[in-house]
Amino acid sequence: MDELTIARAIHIVGVVMWIGGVVFVTTVGLPWVKSIEDPAKGVQTFHRIEKAFIGQARLTTLITGLSGFAMLYYLDGWDRYLDSGYWWLHAMTLIWVLFMLVMFILEPFVLPRIMAKKISGDPAKALKLVHRVHWILATLSLLTVFSAVVGVHGG
Ligand code: HEM
Repeated sequence: MDELTIARAIHIVGVVMWIGGVVFVTTVGLPWVKSIEDPAKGVQTFHRIEKAFIGQARLTTLITGLSGFAMLYYLDGWDRYLDSGYWWLHAMTLIWVLFMLVMFILEPFVLPRIMAKKISGDPAKALKLVHRVHWILATLSLLTVFSAVVGVHGG
């Protein structure tokens, strides 16, 4: 087995764990949290789920990015960034940068302040907003997986 194949396998394991987790939180976790009668308790429960998932999500995002760049290195494919035919590589990199920003900058430093205000005002509305943002991120991520496979296999 060559290095490219190993990097590709690691890349896909990273994508499965990270995007699978985002989809689970969006389609199972948040609807369940929203069904809790007291919205303030719902917010608390969501924080506990988020706390349990964020470390794993950060690690798998890093693994996905590093293995992606490793593949570009083995393929000697850096100039793909200059070719619009590789739009799916741009899509993968953009969604990765977006999640890096959310998980390493917004989540620890910016979101707590913004969300604290929203939660104290109307916790049910805050949960709705969080759910909508998760739907957007999950949909963009799944479209990226679809595009990557279609792009790599010549679609
Ligand atoms: C810095 C970020 C990323 C880089 C540099 C990157 C790079 C790559 C490269 C070079 C390949 C192999 C291309 C080839 O064989 O010609 C690949 C495959 C793939 N990537 Fe990424 N990627 C990144 C992020 C992502 C993300 C965020 C996702 C999913 C949301 C993703 C999903 C995939 C999938 C599903 C494949 C496999 C396609 C296949 O072999 O069927 N990648 N990536």
